[in-house]
Amino acid sequence: MSVYLGIDIGTSGTKTLAMREDGAILATSTFEYPLSSPRPGWSEQDPEDWWQASIKGVRKVLSEGKIKAADVKGIGLSGQMHGSVFLDQAQSVIRPALLWNDQRTVAECAEIEQLAGGRKKLIQMVANPALTGFTAPKILWLRNHEPRNYEKLRQVLLPKDYIRYLLTGEFATEVSDASGTLLLNVAGRDWSKPLLSKLQLDAGLLPKVYESEEVSGQLTHEAAKLLGLNPGTPVVGGGGDQAASAIGNGIVKSGVVSATMGTSGVIFAHSQEMQVDPAGRVHTFCHAVRGAWHVMGCVLSAGGSLQWYRNQLAELEVAQAKKQKLDPYQLLTEQAASVGPGCEGLLFLPYLSGERTPHADANARGCWIGLSLRHRRAHLVRSVMEGATYAMRDTLEIIKEMNIPVRQVRLSGGGARSPLWRQMQADIYGKTCVTINAEEGPAYGVALLAAAGTGAYKNVVEACQKTISVVSETKTDRKAAKIYDQFYPHYQRLYRSLKNDFAAIAETVEQTT
Ligand code: XUL
Repeated sequence: MSVYLGIDIGTSGTKTLAMREDGAILATSTFEYPLSSPRPGWSEQDPEDWWQASIKGVRKVLSEGKIKAADVKGIGLSGQMHGSVFLDQAQSVIRPALLWNDQRTVAECAEIEQLAGGRKKLIQMVANPALTGFTAPKILWLRNHEPRNYEKLRQVLLPKDYIRYLLTGEFATEVSDASGTLLLNVAGRDWSKPLLSKLQLDAGLLPKVYESEEVSGQLTHEAAKLLGLNPGTPVVGGGGDQAASAIGNGIVKSGVVSATMGTSGVIFAHSQEMQVDPAGRVHTFCHAVRGAWHVMGCVLSAGGSLQWYRNQLAELEVAQAKKQKLDPYQLLTEQAASVGPGCEGLLFLPYLSGERTPHADANARGCWIGLSLRHRRAHLVRSVMEGATYAMRDTLEIIKEMNIPVRQVRLSGGGARSPLWRQMQADIYGKTCVTINAEEGPAYGVALLAAAGTGAYKNVVEACQKTISVVSETKTDRKAAKIYDQFYPHYQRLYRSLKNDFAAIAETVEQTT
């Protein structure tokens, strides 16, 4: 039997999956770890936690799937993108890693634009504008705020690539994750020497770049012993979690777009040519498919908004769900289904962690607009779901503006599990939405990349065609879609109306806390 492992270094935990060559899942496991926020807007993790979770995860899937070390023919790595692991001369971690949702680098983003010769020039070099979550501004933050740590700095790795280093001893990355550092020449699929020189960053800080299905190294004796695997097992490039998840959803050809409603919400479109939004509202990154790119928008708190609602305002429903042994989200979405589309004018802006796409504004905040005495809890919860879905539509609209075809939307994440949210997405996007047989996201995607990269398939496109199929279809309800179409322009205008207030409020918060 040939088995491929996928390891996904997520934000809340590391998921490990074992897949048989034909795509069947043999075992999965998740080990969680904490996230720390030492100051408002900061978001950090200890890379050692990822490593321990990876070791436990591999051991667990091997034992639960009754898999022998010799059966494992390849490993793929995926992970939260944009994070920075800073290593010193002795390859030790210098400080906790700054994560994708860390917002401390507003000043460094401005510095990058200025050093690059302006936003337009920056986009020409690396296909994207500087965003607070990306890696390059984090390196500059270290230089500006922790000069002693910066002096020690010898290597910068993305989260999954730190795990690769511990597995193989190699400093390596791959094109999809490297695109989110803001240091990759996305067109040329290698580091941008011109930008590195403008930022006065040494290219030696960065690892070697591979294509996602290429073998980037082999398990060392030490790592193999810790994991219960054979030394020499190949580790392929893998992918940033979004590209990997897209592979796991079979997004490997034009016209098929994915909408993943997890904590963050992501719209992801495959593109055979590199296409850039001149306004820089969506990201253009290399895809984990050789010679292809993708365009993507990321809503920072999509499912995360509903999670916030459940944690902060749904004590009653959570208690009731516990009594009835149900998932609280089931009760909340049933409640939401009891009121109609549009929530009688109640709109929710889901900017609980600031926003990335399309506004790139760390100061934006969540709010309800349009509350009246008629509104009940059901309207509150439904408007949160609608607001998150309108935010995803913002990216779809930009993708359409860029003439990227959208024929089918594949749903995944928590938002694909609820029938109400599936229908809401089909109605708000105005597109038929489908779900597929695989629900395991990035870990599955990189197991497929491992299978393709070690010769089980001709390439990852063939791997997806042989393993992934559509299992459900939700068609747009024209009547509901018409109502959402009437509210969506109001939703879009609200951010523009509130933008200056968000900035002013952020300043007052800064002065008073
Ligand atoms: C993608 C992004 C997130 C993180 C965490 O650009 O920032 O999806 O990768 O999942």
